[in-house]
Amino acid sequence: MSEEFVLKKKLNHVAFIMDGNGRWANLRGLPRHLGHKEACRRLIEIYDLCREFNIKYASFYAFSTENWNRPQDEIDHLMDYLEEFFHREIDYIMKTGGKVVVSGDLSRIREQTRKVCYEAIEMTKNNTSCVFNVCLNYGGRDEIVRATKKFAEAYKNGEAKLEDLDEQAFKNYLWQPEMPDVDLMIRTSGEQRLSNYMLYENAYAEFVFTDVKWPDFRRKAFIDCLKEYQNRNRRYGGLKNE
Ligand code: IPE
Ligand code: IPE
Ligand code: MG
Repeated sequence: MSEEFVLKKKLNHVAFIMDGNGRWANLRGLPRHLGHKEACRRLIEIYDLCREFNIKYASFYAFSTENWNRPQDEIDHLMDYLEEFFHREIDYIMKTGGKVVVSGDLSRIREQTRKVCYEAIEMTKNNTSCVFNVCLNYGGRDEIVRATKKFAEAYKNGEAKLEDLDEQAFKNYLWQPEMPDVDLMIRTSGEQRLSNYMLYENAYAEFVFTDVKWPDFRRKAFIDCLKEYQNRNRRYGGLKNE
C-alpha cells in the first residue's frame, strides 16, 4: 500500500538535482546512458507526486552548462531520452493541466530537441495546475550574467531605471520570472553541492540530500524528503519559525 502523507508546510517550489544516473547504471553493469533512460521515467512520476501534494512549481535539472564536458555520445543519448519523454508524456501533461517551461539557453541544444521543447511549451502555455520547469543547458551563474545583460540593455534603451532595480525586480530578468523562490532543493545520489543550480532562486531554500540515486527516486524517497523539509525551521534571519 502506498504511504499516506499530508504536507502541512508551505511548499510552492521544489527543485531537483537529478543525480546518480551513471552510477545507478554502473552498479547494474549497464551502460551509463541506460541510467538516463530510466531517469526520464521518474520525471512524470515525480510530476504526479507534486500535483498530489499540491506543489505548484517543480524544477528539474536535466542538463547543466558544465555537462557539455561529457562525451558527445552520452549527450546525444540524453537528448534522445528527453525527446522520447516529451513525445510519450506531453498529452498527459496537457490533460492534467501542467505547464512546461524551460530554463536555459536552448539555442545550443540540437534542433530536434529544441523543437520538441518549443512544441511542449507552446501547447501547454495556458495551463495552470503545475509548472514543469526543465532546466536544460542551464547554469546559475550564466543565468545571473544574462539577467545583468538584459537589465543593462533595458537601461540603455530607457526601458528600465537604475533606482527601480532591487532584488525583486532583478528576478524579472531571470529565465522564469513568474516562478517563486525555491522552498525545497533536493539532490539525489549523496553528492552535497549545488553544481551551479539556481544560485539566485535557492537563496533561502531548504536543502535535502538523499543517498537514493535518481533512477530509484520514487514515492517513498520523495515523501522522506518532504518529511525532512516539514521538520525544518525556516527563520529567514529572524526568530520566528515557519
Ligand atoms: C545526472 O546523473 C544526470 C546528468 C548530469 C545529466 P549523472 O550522469 O551525473 O550520474 P552520476 O553522477 O555519474 O552517477
Ligand atoms: C548536476 O549533476 C547536473 C545535473 C543533474 C543535470 P552533475 O553530475 O553534472 O554534477 P557534478 O559534476 O557532480 O557537480
Ligand atoms: Mg552526477
